[in-house]
Amino acid sequence: MGGQAGVPAMIDAQAARRGVFHIGGPHTSYLFRVSRYGHLEHVYWGPSVATSDADALAVKPPTDGYQVAYADDDATYSLDVLPQEWSGLGKGDYRMPAAELKMPDGSFTTDFRYVDYEVTDGVAPCQDGLPSAHESKHPATTLRIGLADGDVALDLYYTVFACCDVVVRRAVLRNGSGEPVVIRRLMSQLVDLPNRAYDLVTFDGTWAAEAHRHVRPLAPGTYVNESLTGFSSNRHNPAVILATRGASEDHGECFAFNLVYSGNHHTAVELSRRNFVRVVSGINPVGFEWTLAPGEQFETPEAVLAYSRDGFDGLSGVLHAFTRDHILPQDWAEADRPVVVNTWESAMFDVNERTVLAQARAGKRVGAELVVLDDGWFTGRQSDHAGLGDYGVDAKKFPHGLGWLGQRVREQGMRFGIWVEPEMVNPDSALYREHPDWAITAPGRQPSLHRHQLVLDVSREDVRDYLVEKVSAVIDESGAEYVKWDCNRNLTDVPAGDLPHRYILGLYDVLRRIFGPRPHVLLESCASGGNRFDLGMLCFSPQIWASDCTDPVERLAIQDGLSHCYPPSTMGAHVTASPSQQTLRATPLSTRFNVAAFGVLGYEFDLATLSFAGRRDVAAQIAFYKAHRHTLQHGRFRRVPATSPDHVVWTAAGALETVVGHYQTRTRASQPPGVLAIPVLEPTRRYRVTSRPQTIGLDELGHLLAFVLPRWLNPEGVLVRTASRFYRLPDAAETYEATGVALATLAPLPQFEGTADRAHTRLWGDHGSTLYVVEPAS
Ligand code: GLA
Repeated sequence: MGGQAGVPAMIDAQAARRGVFHIGGPHTSYLFRVSRYGHLEHVYWGPSVATSDADALAVKPPTDGYQVAYADDDATYSLDVLPQEWSGLGKGDYRMPAAELKMPDGSFTTDFRYVDYEVTDGVAPCQDGLPSAHESKHPATTLRIGLADGDVALDLYYTVFACCDVVVRRAVLRNGSGEPVVIRRLMSQLVDLPNRAYDLVTFDGTWAAEAHRHVRPLAPGTYVNESLTGFSSNRHNPAVILATRGASEDHGECFAFNLVYSGNHHTAVELSRRNFVRVVSGINPVGFEWTLAPGEQFETPEAVLAYSRDGFDGLSGVLHAFTRDHILPQDWAEADRPVVVNTWESAMFDVNERTVLAQARAGKRVGAELVVLDDGWFTGRQSDHAGLGDYGVDAKKFPHGLGWLGQRVREQGMRFGIWVEPEMVNPDSALYREHPDWAITAPGRQPSLHRHQLVLDVSREDVRDYLVEKVSAVIDESGAEYVKWDCNRNLTDVPAGDLPHRYILGLYDVLRRIFGPRPHVLLESCASGGNRFDLGMLCFSPQIWASDCTDPVERLAIQDGLSHCYPPSTMGAHVTASPSQQTLRATPLSTRFNVAAFGVLGYEFDLATLSFAGRRDVAAQIAFYKAHRHTLQHGRFRRVPATSPDHVVWTAAGALETVVGHYQTRTRASQPPGVLAIPVLEPTRRYRVTSRPQTIGLDELGHLLAFVLPRWLNPEGVLVRTASRFYRLPDAAETYEATGVALATLAPLPQFEGTADRAHTRLWGDHGSTLYVVEPAS
């Protein structure tokens, strides 16, 4: 690519002067050009090519007598078959538009055409309070394309980063006319791709079952992945992937689309006539309306477009690096996150000084680092019926106050963290009684409650000021170094079409004002689990509570789904009691840890009740996690194709080691010999593979103790019950030494089948699992 003084060679400056725009990532090219009528014609997106390839690559649009010609004397040019970068309504392109605007003349017809371009170093962050991808140690370059339709101007921004194959796009609309423009839809990006038999992959679910991966072939028509809840939602994560049919973890082309946004989102994928695929993404136009007064501008959130030719794993590699380097707050992006103990699943609302200090003490004994006081600590909060909005501490539960509590926790060698749900209010609260108008309601309608609460209108400045003051005071008084910021209901009774977006802008303002001056505070956002797991929140909170479901078998699907687009360091993952509070499924302590270890680890059961043996086990888990924490949180995460549908394999590779998790979701009788495929490291180098020592409780084995102990003992007897408090049976220990290429088909020990040679049998059963560490053999 040609260089221009001061501009890194990521945008071909010479070609840009000719109206050909070649944006280059490390391994990719994104090419478009100005058409003969001034529209932006999309040319190519894929592995790196030369700018001079544009003519050869550009789709030669078919011409038929049926399509609308843009100009009467030029039947070969129709917007309906031109691959584009932007398109409106009313000029013969009948595919999904990027914009639906009521123009100053009152019509919905728009035709934005090229005016100019500009290339600048660095990013071009949003000006109106939306979070933006930031520059880091890796430089960025931004291309602005100016378009106009009469007095209404549209700037399209493209930012490209030196480190990863991502293009960040957004649009800014400016009303230079003397009349208002009404925006009903303004997408962040539009792109037209020739169809190459794509599958569409989405991450869908509901409360406690977020981000399950779904794949469907594209079929003629439009598929919309969207949220209308007010937030990015647990129903459909904003990230979607187009993948060539049959793409695997390692092979196939994958295109990802995501938004740096936490509100109602919309990505439409249209397979149109003549086999084009149009993808538009941005704020959901349903229920949206924004009036742009003369002289005003409107900015869309950023859209993130990522590409890999190396399958889903290749794409995840790109997106994980991008999220780490350009989305997460820089102070936390690569910092090791603390192991927390959270009071919620053990105490629920029944928290007090004693419970918190007991968890702090018990947490300290097993090596945890921070105790989180979850819901239930403020005035009137005995249940979810009352108290939200009032952040004065409940003096009965905490007679010495939060400052004292934080100090006592620190004296025990633990750090202190606290839960808040600032965007919400219970009608039964002092705040609501004083300011009923602060809750979002539609005039003349009885507002709908959810979890007995209403949503505060954070688009209002007075509400924001209140929240900033209250939450800041809680943090400063208690010395909290971690905040769990919850949001436990969706929007209803929205009084106007601009409110949902103004709400999200207000939320970002509050977060910026509270946490900007307190960069040492680790923010974990949460919305009934993963109801707001998106790149917008990740700009403020480096980790998000991935799901209220902590059953490890369910978590395998949730964390696996999320891992397609978000790195493990963003996923809060806790070990809780068995059976699970969400599913009643009983699972081994080892598996609860082995799954949570591939995220930001915490514990959320009463650690003070652990037996001697349980405590030893949990302490060993935490010691293992800390020893490999950087690899598990920040290493290169991979989903390894498992050899059976009942198995899941994850790996995280650091500079010096790889941690492997091998999980069985259910067992089967007479299984074939297992294979554990550890992705080839250096093929000829020798590695040592060591399983993490783990145990199984005597009580979990019941009458099968007879198979694994030298003599029969009554499983219900006092001896076994007493012994199980002090002793747990070690599972088989595995060590192997082999070359990297051999590890791709490693044969692990067989599983328990009754006649166990215990030293050489993995005691797995349903939901069994093992972690391994792979290091170079010295
Ligand atoms: C939500 C969160 C939980 C917990 C409760 C407290 O459900 O997801 O982790 O904090 O609220 O009410």
